Amino acid sequence: MKEYAKLVIDGKELTLPVIEGSQGEKAIDIRKLRQETGYITYDPGFGNTGTCRSTITYMDGEKGILRYRGIPIEVLAERSTFVETAFLLITGKLPTRDELTKTSVYLNDFSPIHENMKAFYQNYPPKAHPMGILSAMVNAMRSFYPELIDIEEEMNKTYLRLISKIRTMAAMAYRISKGERVVYPRPDLCYCANFLNMMFDNVVIPYKVDEDVVRALNVFWILHADHEQNCSTTAVRVVGSGKVNIYATISAGISALWGPLHGGANQAVINMFERIHNDGLTIKECLAKAKDKNDPFRLMGFGHRVYKTYDPRAIIMKKMVDVILPKLKRRDPLLDIARRLEEAALEDSYFKDKNLYPNVDFYSGIALRAMGIPTNMFTVMFAIGRLPGWIAQWKEDVADPEMKISRPRQIYTGTKLQEYIPIDER
Ligand code: CMC
Repeated sequence: MKEYAKLVIDGKELTLPVIEGSQGEKAIDIRKLRQETGYITYDPGFGNTGTCRSTITYMDGEKGILRYRGIPIEVLAERSTFVETAFLLITGKLPTRDELTKTSVYLNDFSPIHENMKAFYQNYPPKAHPMGILSAMVNAMRSFYPELIDIEEEMNKTYLRLISKIRTMAAMAYRISKGERVVYPRPDLCYCANFLNMMFDNVVIPYKVDEDVVRALNVFWILHADHEQNCSTTAVRVVGSGKVNIYATISAGISALWGPLHGGANQAVINMFERIHNDGLTIKECLAKAKDKNDPFRLMGFGHRVYKTYDPRAIIMKKMVDVILPKLKRRDPLLDIARRLEEAALEDSYFKDKNLYPNVDFYSGIALRAMGIPTNMFTVMFAIGRLPGWIAQWKEDVADPEMKISRPRQIYTGTKLQEYIPIDER
């Protein structure tokens, strides 16, 4: 039976349909609200607003559940690869062996980047942040690869071109920032191994692919591959709704991800641990600063808009760190700090009462350090992982007959009417 919500406003009763998702999540359909009452809703940060219907990712923030296309994140982290998970997100199904082979062939074919793009990199100032470079490069792809034909097969190639080249472009940004020669992709290496080789291969010490590191990177990217309507994905959907090309849209997603409250948190977490390690900031002082409303300091890697319990990705990341560090015979003093900080925060009533738990970024920086990834590349690593999710969400958005250009309303609180005073009379 169809359900309705009733809203009484200005003495008038309005019947609003209820929409129910496949997991029982309910929403009040307010699309006719303004037209019938003149009212709009007020929801800064969209915490109570559903902006689309989606079949891609399911999250339950109270129970700590995350599933891509219905498959639990724990299962994918255990059994899948990043490329297979990307296929799942974008197409909605797991690939057959043939489809996976075809995907790998395309990923290989598309892996080099246009030689003229290298000139861009060389002209960036040496300390430029790789996220800024990556966002600009992805945007530039529209000019270098204009073959965006509106047929499915061609668009599927465009998605793979993006997934393949983003990895080459990221490694290239790192090499050039270090003043080192660019390493080209190798057709004999899988997606993750190829990236690691492009990052670290050296004429003096050739990079030796370590299967444990390759597996860890697969898991890292699977965990980041989608997270429903977060800040950067919303940016992708909003920008995409204007019907701009996919490269410009993804570039906007990368920019949104860069912020320390979102994808930039992984870098901010390590900066925080280093501050504790190097500057002698104690765990107690750190928590006191995080709780002080007059101090802009926050406990980075803690809290989440949706998860009100442990982020399931953080559980997997923490386990991965526990396994990979001993395997690689690495000791990281920041791991001890992370553990002590987590323990103290989980005992503290401020964090307990507000349901603040570690999120994916709390341990991800330590995992990346173990793989040898430098801190300023952390958010780029997140961006590479999130790309299949952005593509899937963009694809769903442009195909959705209910979608319109994003154009929210506002509640104007400024001056009603003001006289224009000529400059000499001000
Ligand atoms: N440290 C200290 N206090 C916090 C923190 C934190 N990390 N997170 C939230 N709070 C407090 C906040 O001050 C507020 O207190 P009050 O109710 O007294 O005003 C309350 O908890 C609710 O916080 P909020 O900012 O209203 O929550 P939000 O849903 O708007 O923000 C968040 C979520 C992730 C931006 C926030 O928890 C945060 O800034 N965390 C640190 C940054 C971080 O780790 N970001 C990565 C998120 S996971 C990666 C991703 O998927 O993007």
